[in-house]
Formats: sequence, structure tokens, C-alpha cells
Amino acid sequence: MPKALIVFATEDGQTAKVASRLAEAIAAAGVEVALRDCARGDAGAHLATYDGVVIGSGIHFGRAAKPLLALVKDHRAVLATRHTAFFSVSLSAGGPNRDPDAAKRHLAKFSEETGLQPDLSASFAGAIRHSRYGFLRTLLAHFSLRKTGLPEPGDHEYTDWKAVGAFAEAFAKRLASPKR
Ligand SMILES: Cc1cc2nc3c(=O)[nH]c(=O)nc-3n(C[C@H](O)[C@H](O)[C@H](O)COP(=O)(O)O)c2cc1C
Repeated sequence: MPKALIVFATEDGQTAKVASRLAEAIAAAGVEVALRDCARGDAGAHLATYDGVVIGSGIHFGRAAKPLLALVKDHRAVLATRHTAFFSVSLSAGGPNRDPDAAKRHLAKFSEETGLQPDLSASFAGAIRHSRYGFLRTLLAHFSLRKTGLPEPGDHEYTDWKAVGAFAEAFAKRLASPKR
């Protein structure tokens, strides 16, 4: 049975939710799947023991999480020998204030900053949950998204779960053949 690892970085929980959904769907395709939060000290351990590694990050201030980028950079030689996929989770990727060009830039920046060209990549729409943010975080979100604006007050999840499922299927299919 092929083995896959999903390493993710999340601030508000949506990337963790996407990572769990990916794990379920990849496992359903007959792959043994492990999930790791990048905040764990040993998130980069034993990468060579997996046939495939999926890397995911929420986007804040136009960037993926720094510790995750550092992990990928540190391990890019090993990762280049595995099947790899990257996904970002953001409001640029979907929702009323979407900005597809910015979503594309997040994917390009990942490769520029880490030196890794993943076999697959996708940007998924994220969520905004005003009820969970304090005054300061709401202010920061407004500042970060000042060009496109923030969705209305309230809690909104824009993630397209079908797209997440399709991404999982495409990745699981790749694991069936050796990395070229
Ligand atoms: C402080 C803050 C800054 C954000 N900055 C951006 C941004 O620069 N670009 C973007 O597309 N989305 C931005 N977002 C939206 C997040 O990407 C979205 O809420 C996503 O679901 C977060 O993923 P997470 O829950 O895994 O942290 C921001 C959200 C917050 C709260």
C-alpha cells in the first residue's frame, strides 16, 4: 500500500480542515495517510519513508506560513524524489472578494521561495469566521485584504469540497506509479 504524508500550516483552522478532508479522500483510494501539523517540532522527520507528500498552507498577508516554507526548503532534496503536491487556502481563491491573479501568485511564490516544483498544485477558497476573531485580528484581516475587501460580518466557508476531493483523487492516482 503506498504511503502519503500531509503536512499543513493553519492559523484559523480551515487548512487543517482541508488537510483532514484530503486525508480521508486519499485513504479512500487505498493509500496509508498520515497528517502532521507543521507547528509540531518534528514535522519534517522521515519524509523519505513516504511515497508522496502533500504540503498545505493558509495564506496571510499574501504569504504561506514561514515555518512551512522553511521545512520545505530544508528538505527539498528529499521532496524532489517523492510525489509532491502543494495547496494554498485563501480568500483570493474564492468567495465574494476573490482575486484569481493573487491566488496564482501564491502558488508561484511557493516554488520561488522553496525551490520545489510540486507535481500538483491548487488554491482552495478558505473561510472567514468573524465571530472567532477579536478586534485586532479583524483589523489585521481588513488591512491584509484592503485591495479586495473582506466578506460581510458573520461566518463564511467558501471551500469547494468537490475540488478538494478531485485534488485528492489526482494525487492518489499519481502514487500508483513510481515518481519519474
Ligand atoms: C489576518 C488575516 C490575514 C489574511 N490575509 C490574507 C491574504 O493576504 N490573502 C488572502 O487571500 N487571504 C487572506 N486571509 C484569509 C485566509 O487566507 C483565510 O481565512 C483562510 O481560510 C485561512 O486559513 P487557516 O484557517 O488555515 O489559517 C487572511 C485572513 C486573516 C485573518
